[in-house]
Amino acid sequence: PRKTIIDTDPGIDDAVAIAAALFDERLNIKLFTTVAGNVSMDKVTKNLLKLLAFWNKEIPVAIGSDRPLFREAINASDIHGITGMDGYDFPESKYELLTKNHAVIEMHKVLMDSKEKTTIVAIGPLTNIALLLRLYPECVERIEELVIMGGALGRGNAGVLSEFNIAVDPEAAKIVFESNISLTMVGLDVGEKALVLPKEREQMRKMNRTGDMIDHLFRKYRGGSLETGLKMYDGCAIAYLLEPEMFEVKESYVAVETQGTLTAGATLVDLDGYLGKEVNCRVCVDVDEEQFRDWFLNAIKKCD
Ligand code: BDR
Ligand code: CA
Repeated sequence: PRKTIIDTDPGIDDAVAIAAALFDERLNIKLFTTVAGNVSMDKVTKNLLKLLAFWNKEIPVAIGSDRPLFREAINASDIHGITGMDGYDFPESKYELLTKNHAVIEMHKVLMDSKEKTTIVAIGPLTNIALLLRLYPECVERIEELVIMGGALGRGNAGVLSEFNIAVDPEAAKIVFESNISLTMVGLDVGEKALVLPKEREQMRKMNRTGDMIDHLFRKYRGGSLETGLKMYDGCAIAYLLEPEMFEVKESYVAVETQGTLTAGATLVDLDGYLGKEVNCRVCVDVDEEQFRDWFLNAIKKCD
């Protein structure tokens, strides 16, 4: 199994990604780290600990950055609800899983603790990952692959051209994209297509208690619709990690806009080479929707 760290801001679609990752035998999740994003640090951490209590999983959780590098935090409680995961009555959070050290220190420990390289999946703003790369530049060599849910080839969902995770902390994203790391971007364009339609939603709901829990959360989710399909943005990053064949991927230079007064947080995916720079990213440009839905249902089936 692939040694993996998940950096997250749960978040309804984060919960789905975590479910799919936790119960897949191809992944060995060593650590979760939290980052302020969808809601505040206290809330996202509490949500992650609730999810781990729900599944009774004993994986360490390290608290990371409670705000972006330079900017004021913005959140998405209009979409994920005031708590970030409204709509389900979870068991008490497993606070005993919290580590003493900051997320960046714990990530560094995992990266260094064996010969095997580590894969990081980042499904929130990139603040922790940027700090990791600045504090411990040697980590670049230790990371097998960084898979991010973030960015967009076309239009955004937090601004006209910016996707939420990048828009929250564009400077952090810039550090990450310029770091020479082995990087894959699973952005909005595929996230918008990775829909769970009413038929599959019905199957999911009846499948097991995880399916039922996810169904409850999505009833409160205001970014998608139960009729037109549930958007599994973060789940897509896990789908890519496990079954990359279902995605069409192009290599490209990607720049992050940090200066624009209207466009900060935009990701410029330079597929035609206008900027004359070396490739720094694998970019998912399309996903097979049927295959995604099959993968999703199988992933939930494995949960308990
Ligand atoms: C991303 O923003 C968040 O609201 C979701 O959890 C996902 O990570 C989609 O733009
Ligand atoms: Ca997220």
